[in-house]
Order: sequence, then structure tokens, then C-alpha cells
Amino acid sequence: MSDLTIRSATKLDLDRCYEIETVSYAGDEAATKEKILKRIETYPEGFIVLENSEEIIGFINSGATHKVELSDEEFKELIGHDPSGKHIVIMSVVVHPKYQGKGMASKLMDNFIVSMKALGKTEMYLICQTELIDMYAKHGFVHLGESDSDHGGLSWHEMSLSL
Ligand SMILES: CC(C)(COP(=O)(O)OP(=O)(O)OC[C@H]1O[C@@H](n2cnc3c(N)ncnc32)[C@H](O)[C@@H]1OP(=O)(O)O)[C@@H](O)C(=O)NCCC(=O)NCCS
Repeated sequence: MSDLTIRSATKLDLDRCYEIETVSYAGDEAATKEKILKRIETYPEGFIVLENSEEIIGFINSGATHKVELSDEEFKELIGHDPSGKHIVIMSVVVHPKYQGKGMASKLMDNFIVSMKALGKTEMYLICQTELIDMYAKHGFVHLGESDSDHGGLSWHEMSLSL
């Protein structure tokens, strides 16, 4: 796939991003359409989409803050978000099943790290399930420990990357 581009999300991307979120995340884990819209409108710099000539393949969205609390469910609606915050909290890293296993999440993450460094951010945080710890470690994230979050009724690990 040579025709890939990465850009900030706009409201026009809402339906496709919601579709990708719901087909890719199990049950309760998926963000609602309203939450995705709020992330696009509130912090487009922290919401990137990867697309080919036909459609959006996957995306990363996030918020910025001065004080990170990864188990804070309200932050997922960007309550407490401050675009001047130096810390980035990633909410979703997601690739449509049709395109999974082809290095698309890696492309998104490489681009996201570069663009957040360019914005002067200093740390990046996320929570993930056990099987994805190695995937994020390949991008330099370190495992901080188990999370207090029970998001989607699952158990989670906290990871961070110094930019
Ligand atoms: C997790 C997800 C984003 C990975 O996307 P992807 O485009 O298939 O990932 P990539 O092809 O870029 O894989 C990157 C690396 O992670 C590994 N990896 C990807 N998905 C994995 C999984 N579910 N379990 C274990 N390892 C996985 C790949 O083997 C690859 O390793 P390699 O570099 O040694 O080859 C995708 O499966 C997805 O959208 N899942 C549903 C949403 C989700 O759970 N997101 C994570 C939130 S923390």
C-alpha cells in the first residue's frame, strides 16, 4: 500500500471513525459517536487518521493534560483536557480489521510520536491489555504497572513514553 497518508481528523471523518471503533473494539470498550465527535472538535491535533485512496484505515486519538490520571473516565470525554498540557493521554489506537496485521498501527504510532514531539509534548501515556504491552514497548513505551481502570470490564496496564 503506497498511497497512504496521515492527517488530522475532521468532522467529516466521524461516521467512518465510529464504524472502525465499533467493529474493532469489543462491547463496552468502544467509544460512543458523541465521544469521538468531542475528540475531533476539541483536540484535532491529537486525533490523526491513516487513509488510503479509498477510505480511512485507522486512527489514534488523545487528549493533553498537565496532570495524568489514567483511570479517570471523564478524561475520555476530554474533561480536564488542556491543549497546552505537556502530557498526552492516548484514548484509542485502532485499525479496521480488514487492514490489521499489516503494520498500520505502527505507521500511525510512528507518525503520532513525531508530531507530538513537534508540538513540544514531553510524555505520552496509554492503557492497554496484556497482549499489546510488547507492541507499545517496540515504540519505546515502558510498562508502569497495572491500572486501576476497569474500562469495559477488563483489566489494563499503564504504559508511558518519554518524548
Ligand atoms: C491493536 C491494533 C491497533 C494493532 O493494529 P495492527 O495494524 O494490526 O498492528 P501492526 O500490524 O502495526 O502490528 C504492530 C506489532 O504489534 C503486534 N500486534 C498487533 N496486534 C496484536 C495483538 N492483538 N496481540 C499481540 N500482538 C499484536 C504485531 O504482531 C506487530 O508486531 P511486529 O512489529 O513484531 O510484527 C489492532 O489490532 C486493533 O485495532 N485492535 C482493536 C483495538 C485495540 O485493541 N486497540 C488497542 C488499544 S490499547
